[in-house]
Order: sequence, then structure tokens, then C-alpha cells
Amino acid sequence: MDIFEAIKTRRSIGKVKDQMISKELIEKIIEAGTWAPNRYLTEPWRFFVISGEGRNKLSKVMENIVLDSGIDLESKEGKAKLDKEKNKPFRAPVIIAVAAEVSDNKKVLKIEELGAVYAAIQNMLLTAFGLGIASYWKTGNACYDPKMKEFFNLKENDEVLAFIYLGYSDFEKNPPHKKPITELVKWIDK
Ligand SMILES: Cc1cc2nc3c(=O)[nH]c(=O)nc-3n(C[C@H](O)[C@H](O)[C@H](O)COP(=O)(O)O)c2cc1C
Repeated sequence: MDIFEAIKTRRSIGKVKDQMISKELIEKIIEAGTWAPNRYLTEPWRFFVISGEGRNKLSKVMENIVLDSGIDLESKEGKAKLDKEKNKPFRAPVIIAVAAEVSDNKKVLKIEELGAVYAAIQNMLLTAFGLGIASYWKTGNACYDPKMKEFFNLKENDEVLAFIYLGYSDFEKNPPHKKPITELVKWIDK
């Protein structure tokens, strides 16, 4: 597929089947992530592949994060919120959590480590799309909670930047509205 066409037609798709994705394809998606640009070649990306029974562990972390947020478990809204969070990991057969392990080298800027990992994530979404696999980049409050870092054994300065939900899907989605680039670009040529 032409790269520009892939960039334009990739969509975030949440409605996926239970059908498992092969390890080979999951590894290809991850390898694509590792080819992103990264300053000082720090390779700050780390990947956690969560599937099958492993999703129960992620569900438990998500549950604990909501429980500690002080929600009212007696209320209908509180119960619904807890259920929603607990069930998130079961929305797809495979979730790849993508984190930035920030270099402790003094010349390395954290913003650039995160930038490299964000670029890796986009590589992964596009590669999944090219392989006929639907993806959805999700974060939510749980992504940035210290308990999530703990679960993945990350350091305080590291960051979890994405949960990429992956699965096969027949679902099609209309593209979102895009501003014309004339509204976004200033040419500085004089
Ligand atoms: C940093 C980041 C975090 C995101 N987190 C969520 C999320 O928590 N929930 C969600 O529904 N979509 C999330 N998205 C996906 C966007 O909603 C999605 O990309 C947007 O609606 C455009 O749709 P498209 O990807 O099909 O073009 C996130 C995207 C980015 C870049």
C-alpha cells in the first residue's frame, strides 16, 4: 500500500473479533516501532504484550486505580465506572502497552524520549493496518497512574504512553473531519 494512502485511510477501530493474532505478526508490529527516529539512539521504547489470561492482570490494575480514585461504589455511576474500567482489557485479544524508558544520560531530554516513542506508536498503528489488523490507541487516566508504572516495573521518570488494542475487524469507520492545511500552515519564505 502507498504510504500516504495508508496514513490517510488508517482508522482507530474498537470493534474487533476474539480471533488471536499470531506471535509473528505481533512481533512485526513491535519491530516497526523500533525503527522510529530516536535522538542519541537511546531506543527508549518498551513493549508489554498482554493477551489471554494476562488481560486479567491488567484488568486488576485498572480496577485498583478506579477503587483508589475515591469513587462512590454505592452509586450507579460509580459501579458503572468500575465495571467499564475492569472490562477494558477484554475489548481486544491483544493489547500492547508502549512505554518510554527515559535515559538517565544528562544530555537526553525527556520530551524527546517521549517523542521517539510516540513516533514508534504511529509506526505500529500503520504496520498493523498494513497487515490487515485493526488498532486503537487508548490512554485514559489509568495509563498515567503510578500503579500502572509499578505493574510494568517502570521507574518514576518513565511513562506509559499507549495501550494499543489490536484485533481483526470487519468494521469500517468514516474519516474524521480534517482542517484544510491552509488553516494550519504558515509559509515563511520572505
Ligand atoms: C495520545 C493519544 C491518546 C489517545 N487516547 C484515546 C483514548 O483514551 N480513547 C479513545 O477513544 N481514543 C484515544 N485516542 C485515539 C483518538 O481518539 C483517535 O486517533 C481520533 O479519534 C482520530 O481517529 P483516527 O485514529 O481514526 O483518525 C488517542 C490518541 C492519542 C494520540
